[in-house]
Amino acid sequence: MKALILAGGAGTRLRPITHTRAKQLVPVANKPILFYGLEAIADAGIKQVGIVVGDTADEVMAAVGDGSDWGLAVTYLPQEAPLGLAHAVLIARDFLGDDDFVMYLGDNLLKQSLKDFVERFEANRQRALSPTLDGGDEHGPCAQILLKAVPDPHRFGVAELGADGSVIRLLEKPAEPPSNLALVGVYLFDARIHEAVAAIEPSARGELEITDAIQWLVDRGLRVRTEVLDGWWIDTGKLTPLLEANRLILEILERCVEGEVDEESDLDGRVVIAPGARIVRSRIRGPVIVGRDTTVIDSFIGPFSAVGARCVIEHSEVEHSVVLDDCRVVRAGRLEDSLLGHHVEVTRSERRPRATRLMVGDHGTIDLQ
Ligand code: G1P
Repeated sequence: MKALILAGGAGTRLRPITHTRAKQLVPVANKPILFYGLEAIADAGIKQVGIVVGDTADEVMAAVGDGSDWGLAVTYLPQEAPLGLAHAVLIARDFLGDDDFVMYLGDNLLKQSLKDFVERFEANRQRALSPTLDGGDEHGPCAQILLKAVPDPHRFGVAELGADGSVIRLLEKPAEPPSNLALVGVYLFDARIHEAVAAIEPSARGELEITDAIQWLVDRGLRVRTEVLDGWWIDTGKLTPLLEANRLILEILERCVEGEVDEESDLDGRVVIAPGARIVRSRIRGPVIVGRDTTVIDSFIGPFSAVGARCVIEHSEVEHSVVLDDCRVVRAGRLEDSLLGHHVEVTRSERRPRATRLMVGDHGTIDLQ
């Protein structure tokens, strides 16, 4: 079993954060989204990983390297333009050979373990090879998809299932969805998918859709196994608030204090203080993560906040917020539900009457309360 991770795509919907970096590298709880996928793949026992890269190839390659940090062997597969998920499979043909593979969209985050998902696919295929076992099915699945009930299925690929859970129809972003079951960005395939991706035509948005390729398999009477996810799933490339992704990851955080905390500070609940961080005369109420070499002085950091590396938070309160690396938040009052990009400064002068002086990049949002 190999893995194919898709890390091309521009990430226009995560602007302004993605003006300056690949959407798959935007940090959630101080870790790039893509790294969660790499961890899941390594945990599933997969070693050979192809990463499809586009315009942000250099950045992705710099962050992931040869994959050895995860015990993986990574091969980079350049895609000349974002021509669709099925196109990514097409260009990965040589890398994939005839092996089974998991296709993982690099901007998806999900709670369920990939390991179990992969094991159930293989178990079903094994059963198909030995039909005497466990009432097996002689036509083993050629693909396995993961579905999730969502309130807005028209933004995704949507599956219509028969009473027995088998796929009747798959539609990409239908105006009138036949169900509320969205296709999650994690798929398992055997080599039969290669014929499918070569046979389909581009969709209305000009992309070769993996949804259409899977439908092509269904139309030929091949079995596509489905599973419905009950844990959370976020396609961070959609307009999903990154704050929500942070909240979900922070909820499963384990306390770990490696930085320095002085006696006048108070840590409460599940808190991660990275090495080199300093907490001085402050209160941290978890779940909270404070990144490497960040200093928090005379401040309060409240639940569901992630503060990146090398930040300075002074005389301020930060709650339910994401502050990326190298920010300075000084005498800022109380920041709530906020997202600060890299190298952002939020400061307040001592002068009265107060005026607001802003220097904000393209697509920034400021909500004064
Ligand atoms: C893609 C797929 C869609 C799937 C979604 C999951 O959408 O085309 O079927 O539901 O990923 O994240 P896209 O991100 O290309 O809009």
